[in-house]
Amino acid sequence: MMRTPKDFFKPLAVGAPEPQRETPFRPSRMIHFFPPSNAKMVSKVPDIAPTVDVLLGNLEDGVPATDKDAARDGLIQVAKTVDMGQTQLWTRINSLDSPWAIDDIYGLMTEIGDKLDVVMVPKVEGPEDIHYIDRLLAQLEARAGLERPLQVHAILETAQGVARVEEICGASPRMQGISLGPADLAANRRMKTTRVGGGHPGYLVREDPTGDDIHSGRTIFQQDLWHYTLARMVDACVMHGVLPYYGPFGDIADTVACEDQFRNAYLLGCVGAWSLHPVQIDIAKRVFSPDPADVAHAQRVIEAMGDGTGAIMLDGKMEDDASCKQCHVVVELARQLSARDPELAATYGF
Ligand code: GLV
Ligand code: MG
Repeated sequence: MMRTPKDFFKPLAVGAPEPQRETPFRPSRMIHFFPPSNAKMVSKVPDIAPTVDVLLGNLEDGVPATDKDAARDGLIQVAKTVDMGQTQLWTRINSLDSPWAIDDIYGLMTEIGDKLDVVMVPKVEGPEDIHYIDRLLAQLEARAGLERPLQVHAILETAQGVARVEEICGASPRMQGISLGPADLAANRRMKTTRVGGGHPGYLVREDPTGDDIHSGRTIFQQDLWHYTLARMVDACVMHGVLPYYGPFGDIADTVACEDQFRNAYLLGCVGAWSLHPVQIDIAKRVFSPDPADVAHAQRVIEAMGDGTGAIMLDGKMEDDASCKQCHVVVELARQLSARDPELAATYGF
């Protein structure tokens, strides 16, 4: 049974901080991954941190089994020594069915629970995974005397997780967001793509033949393998006041396709994506910040719509209460992002 509405916002351990009722909006256009076991990467953290919205110490996939302890220790060192400024510090712990997850949660919460904003949990299959981590975090928050509850971010990367995404989003007030994990999801679903995110040339629709020649002159349109999952994820997130994100794009050299994938996610409602390499930081910043021309147009509509009701014609287009709300979404996001970025604010003329 679900906890009753009144119990939902009670701490799950005596002395743990009260759960938050709303996911606070903080810019998170890019969640920049770094491997804390790699000394060279760690040495770059002070330079990279101010250039990203979220810095994430990755303990899971990508870190060899032999380096799991070193990665955890490395993240603890980074959190204790590097000034993050306004940048959020997240971690991706090992999956709950691994032998490392318990040490990750215990070690990080004991040492740097006050420095971490969000714990990303991979391979979440259902609400029971969130309940498990929810209680554990509350116990460790109480034990460490933390005043602020940690938030939880789930990766959607199993068929079961996708089938239960609404339940996952609604499993705890700690739920901050969900990312699509196209690599694990492809493997779990037995999809036949070996790419980390992005399209596939074989997944297409083809124009009808014009004559008897079925082989030539037919335009091919590549389709988006991830559209269904992403759209479903966005609805589940919005339903529960949780933020949706696209995940990783593995082809670092193909910055053009990366930008397309990120923009599709942005247009569908996502607030950010992962960056796996510095070149993807700028792509995410550009894509997940509203275009200045769109913001200017949206402001014109809002201005022309007065109290926001009724219908008008502007540049030959119909605008009404609903399109005015669409415009408010764009302007509000621009303002939220500008609040900590004067350069961006200037591009909007704020
Ligand atoms: C991310 O973790 C993925 O599996 O795509
Ligand atoms: Mg994964």
